[in-house]
Amino acid sequence: MKTTVLAGVFALAASSFPTAQAFFRMPCSGPLLRERADPIVNPGTVSSHLHNIVGGNGFDFSMTYQKTQAASCSTCKAKADKSNYWIPDLYVKAKNGSYHNVGNGGATIYYLQRRDSPTEELLPFPAGFRMLAGDPMRRSLDGAGIEQKGISFACLGGNTKEGQTPTIPNYTCPYGLRLQIVMPSCWDGKNLDSPDHKSHMAYPSGNDNGKCPSTHPKRFITLFYEFLYDVKSWDNEWVNGKHPFVLSNGDPTGLSMHADFVNGWDIPILKKAIDQCNSGNGNIEECTVLELNSDQATNDCMVPNSIKEQTEGWMSKLPGCNPIQPGPGKAITPPPCGAPTSIGTKQVFYTDMSSKGWEYVGCAFDDLNNRLLPYRYAKNDMTVPKCIDICTSKGYTYAGLEYAEECFCGNSIATNKLGAMKCTMKCAGDASQFCGGPVKLSVYKKSGSIVAKTSSAPSITKTAITSKVKPSKTSKVPTTFKLYTTSKRAAAPTGKA
Ligand SMILES: *[C@@H]1O[C@H](CO)[C@@H](O)[C@H](O)[C@H]1NC(C)=O
Ligand SMILES: *[C@@H]1O[C@H](CO)[C@@H](O)[C@H](O)[C@H]1NC(C)=O
Repeated sequence: MKTTVLAGVFALAASSFPTAQAFFRMPCSGPLLRERADPIVNPGTVSSHLHNIVGGNGFDFSMTYQKTQAASCSTCKAKADKSNYWIPDLYVKAKNGSYHNVGNGGATIYYLQRRDSPTEELLPFPAGFRMLAGDPMRRSLDGAGIEQKGISFACLGGNTKEGQTPTIPNYTCPYGLRLQIVMPSCWDGKNLDSPDHKSHMAYPSGNDNGKCPSTHPKRFITLFYEFLYDVKSWDNEWVNGKHPFVLSNGDPTGLSMHADFVNGWDIPILKKAIDQCNSGNGNIEECTVLELNSDQATNDCMVPNSIKEQTEGWMSKLPGCNPIQPGPGKAITPPPCGAPTSIGTKQVFYTDMSSKGWEYVGCAFDDLNNRLLPYRYAKNDMTVPKCIDICTSKGYTYAGLEYAEECFCGNSIATNKLGAMKCTMKCAGDASQFCGGPVKLSVYKKSGSIVAKTSSAPSITKTAITSKVKPSKTSKVPTTFKLYTTSKRAAAPTGKA
C-alpha cells in the first residue's frame, strides 16, 4: 500500500495581491476526517460520496453551532475558529482499474476582505450559519453561472501551461494540484441556511468582488478554499496524455467541485480579525488578534471514522456508489450498490488486551530526547501483544508502541503527555492493529498498576536504554509536502477593492 504522508504547513512566499487587498490566510494541516459525511446536505445520515473535511473536531454527521464549540482541537491554525470546511476528495483511477486516494497536503482557507466600496461593512458569520457552493451533478460548463467562475484547479510547477483551469488539467503538476473554490459572500441578512443551502447567499457581480445583488445586500468576509493534492506520485498512471484523477463523486472533469462551510468561530474575535487582520500579505502570524494553534496540535487533531468501509489504499471502487460519470450530461444519482448506509460506532485505535491482563491507557506525545518509557525494542513484525509480552518478560508494567515497529517499556508514564489523538499507524506485524504514530505512543498498562501522577518522565541513564536492533531506525515526523511558492498563487481570486 502506498502511504504518502503529507503534513501541510504552508509557509508561502508573500503573494503579489495588490496591497489594497486585505486578507488573511489560515493554514489547515491534512484531513481532520475523510468520510461520507455531509452534515449540511445529509444531516444525520451517510452522504453519497466522501469528503475531505478540515477544521474543528466537533465535526459530526449533524452539526449545530454548539457542536462546533465543543471541539477540543482544530486542524486549522486560528484557535478562535472551530469551523468545518470540506470538499469532495481526490482519487486516482489506475491503469488496471483500481482506485487509490491521492495524498492530501492540507488546505489553506483564505479570509478576503472584499468590499465594493471602502466603507462597506463586512459582517462576521453568525452562530448557526452554514452554506455550500458548487454542484455535485455538474459535468459541463453549459449553463454555468457566476458560481462556476470561482471553481478552479491550479497545477503547480508544471510546464508553460501552468495556471488555473476550470477542469482537472491534462498536464502533470510536479508540486501538486490545488482544488480551489470561492464561497458566496452576499447574504440575505436573515437566514442562517436555506432548503438548497445556497439561496440565502449569492455571489457579488464579479464572483469574489463587485456589488452584492439587492436581494442579498449584506456582505460577509469572502471565503476562498485551496486543498492541495500530491498528484505527482501518480504520473505513471496517465494514459495517452489523459489524467487519471477523479473526484470522490465519480467526476473526472472537476466541474462538480463543491464546498461546504459550517461556522464555528468565536464571533467577536472573527469581527476583530475582519477589522484588524488586513495586511496585504495574508500572513496569519501578523494578525495579533488571533492566537494560533501549534503545528503539533493541528497535525494531531482528528475525528475517527464511523462508517465501516475502505476509504484509502487500493480499492475496487470509490467509497459509496459512485461510478465514473464523465458527462457532459448532468450526473444521475446512482442506484444502491451495497455500500454501507448506516453510521456505526467510532473507530478505536487500540486492541483489547484484557486476555493478558493489560489495558489501553491512551495516546501519548513521546519525546525523542527524553523517552517516556526507557526500554526500547524494535522489529518489523511488531504487534500489540508482542510488545506487551516483551514488557511483561522484562518485568515492566507499562508498554508503548510507536511508529509501527517500536516497542517501549517502563513502569510509569507522565500523565501530562497523554492526550494525543493520532496513534493511528498500523502495526508493522499486523495491519489490523495500531502501533502509535510518529513520535506518538499507544500506551498500555498492566491492569491494576497505578498511573503515575508525576508530571515528567523519570529520568533515565543512557545505559538503561537497551536496543535489540540497530539504533538507526527512530521515529521521525512525516515528510513535509513542500508547496511550490509561486506568484501564480496570487492569481487566485483577483478582485478589485
Ligand atoms: C493495480 O495496480 C497497483 C499498482 O499500480 C497494485 O498495487 C494494485 O494491487 C493493482 N490492483 C489490482 C486489482 O490488480
Ligand atoms: C483530458 O483528456 C481527455 C481525453 O482526451 C478529454 O476527454 C478531457 O476533456 C481532457 N481534459 C481537459 C481538461 O482538457
